[in-house]
This record gives sequence, C-alpha cells and structure tokens, in this order.
Amino acid sequence: MSAVNASTPYSLTALLRPSAMAKLGLIALVVLAIAAGFAGVAGWLSPGRLNQTRLVDEFESVNGRHAGFRRNHAKGVCVFGWFDGNGVGERLSHAVVFRQGRVPVIGRFALAGGLPMMPDGPNAVRSLALQFTLPNGEAWRTGVNDIPVFPVRDAQGFYDNLAALSPDPATGKPDPAKLQAFLAAHPESARAIGQIKNTPFSSGFANASYNSLNAFRLVNAAGVATPVRWALQAVDAFEPEPADAPAAKNYLFDALADRLSRSPAQWHLLLTVGQPGDRTDDATIAWPAGRETIDAGTLTLDRIEAEGPGNCRDINFDPLVLPSGIGPSDDPLLSARSAAYSVSAARRLGESKTPSAVQPGQKGN
Ligand code: HEM
Repeated sequence: MSAVNASTPYSLTALLRPSAMAKLGLIALVVLAIAAGFAGVAGWLSPGRLNQTRLVDEFESVNGRHAGFRRNHAKGVCVFGWFDGNGVGERLSHAVVFRQGRVPVIGRFALAGGLPMMPDGPNAVRSLALQFTLPNGEAWRTGVNDIPVFPVRDAQGFYDNLAALSPDPATGKPDPAKLQAFLAAHPESARAIGQIKNTPFSSGFANASYNSLNAFRLVNAAGVATPVRWALQAVDAFEPEPADAPAAKNYLFDALADRLSRSPAQWHLLLTVGQPGDRTDDATIAWPAGRETIDAGTLTLDRIEAEGPGNCRDINFDPLVLPSGIGPSDDPLLSARSAAYSVSAARRLGESKTPSAVQPGQKGN
C-alpha cells in the first residue's frame, strides 16, 4: 500500500498549483450546472411557476386537506370484473388488450371534486377509472368521465379554474366575479362548459357512458399510427337524471351497489378514429359527429367493494400507464395529469386512513 505524500498528485501542494485549481474550478462549475438543471426541473428556481405541487396545493386550498383521500375524485368505490377483447381493435393497435381474449380489470367509480364525504348530487361529474392487467405483465390504466369535453385545455387553465372556484373568505362561496373573469380569459372553457351543461346526465353510474376526452395514439403491428379517443358506452339504457334527486347522501353509489347485486353491468369499449384536422391537443373540442367508431370489446363489472388496503384505493390511475401499442398524443393535459396524480398519490398513500363514505351494504350512511 503506498502512502500519500507531498510528491503524489493528491498532495495539498499539488492541488494548490494554478493548473490544478483551474481544473477544480471547472469541475465545480460542471457540478453547479447539473445541480441548477435539477433545481430548474423541480421548480426551485422559479417558485411562482405552475407545477404539479402547486396544482395539488390548490386542490387542498379549495377543498381543505382530507388525509388519505384523492385530492380530486375523492369520493369513490372499487369495482371488479373483466374485459373481453373481440380482436377488432388489432387493426389499429398491437396492444395485447385488443386481442381476442379475457383480461381481469379493477376499477373505481367516483364523483369529481376533492370532498370525500360530499353528498351525491345531480350535477356531479361521474368517473370510472380502470386498470386492465395484461397476460404479458403490462398494465393499461385509464380514467374516463361522463362529460362530452373537458372544461380546460391545459394545466394553466385547470389551475386558473380551480383558483376561480376557491371560496371567498367573506362568504365561504366562490366569488362570481372571479368566475366571470376566468371565463372571459378562457373562451375555450366558456364554450366547453356550455356544451357540458347542454348534455344531460344519466340517472346513475351504471347507465352512464364515459369518455377519455384526451386523445391517444394507437400503433398497429405494421407500425401505422392512428389518433383515437375512447369511450365506455353503457349497455344499460340511458335514462336522464330525475328532476328531483333522491335525498339519500349516497343515492348514486347505493343504486350502483343494488344494480351490481342483481347482475353484472357492461360497457362497450369504443375507439373513435380521428381524421386529419381533428384536434388531438385540445380536450375542450369534440371531434365531429360521424367519425368511424370501432367496438373493441366489452367490459363487465360484477363486484363492488369499499376502498381499502390493496384494492383500487391504492392505485394511481395515471393516464400514461400504457401498454405497448397505445401511446400518448400531443395533448398537454396528459403529462400534467400524470405529474399531478403522482403528487396526489404520494401524499394520500403516506397519510393515515379513515373509512370512505361509500360502504356498499350499509345504506343511508
Ligand atoms: C391538468 C388537468 C388535470 C388535473 C390537474 C387533474 C387532477 C386529478 C387528481 C389530483 C386526481 C386524483 C389522483 C389520485 O390521487 O390518484 C384526479 C383523478 C381523476 N381524474 Fe383528473 N385531472 C386533470 C384532468 C383530467 C382529465 C382530462 C380527465 C379525463 C377523463 C380526468 C379524469 C380523472 C379521473 C377519472 C380521476 C379519478 C381516478 C381514480 O378514480 O382514481 N382528469 N385528477
């Protein structure tokens, strides 16, 4: 073993030579540049800039902090079943899920909004989140909503909308002037919200149809890419929401549990093919009616269970968890969703849990 002494290149004398000092300075600069790069990506150099943490903080400032629950779509229940692919989708995508065959599915029905104990309401947006577990070890996660278009087109619009909805400390309610200002600054949202208001809600979760709203890119075995949006179209007949919504706090979730106790409920997975000129980067704009639509198979849900350890409660339905053959489009909402869901999931998964509002089998709670 050789000792380090004044004659080795690592000695203090050697390191203090001007040429060595210049090299050390250069190394320090490179390290600083890398650190600044990481700090920039993390948003530390621009604390006012919108990022996923600020987005999720804004949910908490509007709704309060509800430990253990999703920061959006907070009130929900887990469901289980399977998907039967019919092979027709293989024309558009080589994803295993589109082959003929059955794959298990775990899902979650929910109401949009950050209040886990809120009463079911006639105008609450309903959602269905799904995880398809594929035989080759891949997973496909998708979240779909029962509205025709999304109210905002990017993360900034989402944040501005949330901020406009935050309660005025004086009244405890959103300030109508702030909402008006939001709509004036975001005409695309004013248009989309008008379209949402003109589309009737169904009477329940089981007879609602749910839309991906975001566009995706399917790639088939020949390498041909096709823009699509997908929908889960209910087999149960549509009935509009009754004028007088029932008073029970969980009437929508209770009806879902009743429905599934009688027989499984089903939805067709419809892939709508985009044409040149159809916007793939703006979920506030619907594609023209009459686009080719392919029925790729049937989702069957036959079991319901309260959120609990290891079931849908602990899944992050990140829209970018995609199998080979399904890719993201250029829609900026997709990466914003993925980043925000990961912050929401990281917070809630690390927090203590209280039972969810929806406990199938215990009505009227
Ligand atoms: C920038 C835009 C968006 C933001 C910031 C946002 C935020 C969130 C957050 C924080 C959650 C809870 C995630 C978790 O803790 O697991 C969530 C859930 C959800 N979001 Fe979004 N969202 C956005 C856009 C969309 C869009 C375009 C859709 C379209 C379908 C959508 C559908 C859903 C659904 C279905 C859930 C519930 C998932 C579940 O049951 O776990 N979101 N969202």
